[in-house]
Amino acid sequence: MSPFTVTRTLPADADHAALRTDALHGLTADPKRLPPKWFYDARGSELFEEITQLPEYYPTRAELEILLAHAGAIASVSGARTMIELGSGSSEKTRHLLRVLTELRAYVPVDVSESALVQAGHVLREQYPELSVHALVADFQGGLVLPETPGPRLVAFFGSTIGNLLPAERAAFLESLREALSPEDTLLLGTDLVKDEATLVSAYDDAHGVTAAFNKNVLLVLNRELGADFDVADFEHVALWNPRDEWIEMRLRARRSLTVKLTALDLEVPFTAGEEMRTEVSTKFRPEGVRAELAAAGLELRQWWTDAMGRFALSLSGPAGDRAR
Ligand code: SAH
Ligand code: AVI
Repeated sequence: MSPFTVTRTLPADADHAALRTDALHGLTADPKRLPPKWFYDARGSELFEEITQLPEYYPTRAELEILLAHAGAIASVSGARTMIELGSGSSEKTRHLLRVLTELRAYVPVDVSESALVQAGHVLREQYPELSVHALVADFQGGLVLPETPGPRLVAFFGSTIGNLLPAERAAFLESLREALSPEDTLLLGTDLVKDEATLVSAYDDAHGVTAAFNKNVLLVLNRELGADFDVADFEHVALWNPRDEWIEMRLRARRSLTVKLTALDLEVPFTAGEEMRTEVSTKFRPEGVRAELAAAGLELRQWWTDAMGRFALSLSGPAGDRAR
C-alpha cells in the first residue's frame, strides 16, 4: 500500500496566532468582519458537507455534473502525474477524477481543516491503495511548500472557493499560483456563475437553517479558541446579494445591543442592536471576468465547460507561453 501522510506546514500554534490577528482586526474594524476560513473546524467541515446535500445548494451538484461529463478530457489534456487540490475538504468530487487520471502517482490535498483531510485520506486509502497521498494542513493563501512529486501537475480548486477571496486576494493568489506552475502544469478551476437573485439567496439561506448554523459556527470557534462568550442565539443569519460586487454576503446580525468578551485578546467588543458583521463573500463570476482574472495572472484559458443549466463553470488553464515576465 502506498503512503498516506499528513503534514502541518505551520507550527501548531501559527493557526492560533493567525486567528488572534484576524479576530482582533476584524472585530475592531468598522464594519466588523471575519475571514471565512475560520468556519472550518471539525463541526464547520461537517456542516459544509450537509450544505452540499441541500436542495437549494446547487453548486456542488452542478460542478459534479461537469466533472463527470469531462473527466476524460481533463485527464488527457493534463496528463497529470500529480494532482494538487486546494481546499479539498472531503475530496468527494475529486474521487471521480482520480478514477480516470491513469498516469497519476501522487495526490496532494491541501486544507486548513485537519479533520476533513484525515477523513478523506482514510476513504482514499481504501479506494486507491496504490496512490501516494500527501495531505497538507495549510493555508492556500500563505505560500505553500509542496512535496517533491512528479510532473505534470494538475492543480484543482473546486467548489468556487476562489469566490470566497476578495478581488485583491484573488489576484495575489492567482499570481503566486502562476509563479509556482511549470509550463506543462494545468489549473482546473471551479467558478459559480452570476444568476437570478432568488436562486442565489436561497442557496445561502436554506429552509432547514443548515447554512445559518454554518455561519454561526464561527462564533463557537472564537468561543473555544479565544475564550470568547458569544451566545449564538443573540445573532441572526443574513444572506444577501450585493449586485455591485456580484457576490453573496453572509453576515451575522446582533439581535440586541450586547458586549462580547474575548479573554485571550483581553478585548471587549460592543455590538449595537441590528449591527451586522460580514463573515463571507461568495463571488459569482461571468465568463469574461474569469478569463480576464486568469490572464492578468499570466494564465491562459484553454477549456471552459458549464453544466446543462449554465449555473457553474469548470475551466482548464495553464501558464501563458508568450507572456514576458
Ligand atoms: N473542495 C470542496 C470543499 C469546498 S469547502 C468542494 O468543492 O466541495 C471549502 C474548503 O476549503 C473547506 O474544506 C475549507 O476548510 C477549505 N479552506 C477554506 N479556506 C482555506 C484556506 N485559506 N486554506 C486552505 N483551505 C481552506
Ligand atoms: C466553500 N465555498 C465555496 C462555499 C460558498 O458557496 O461560498 C461556502 C458556503 N458558504 C455558505 N454556503 C456554502
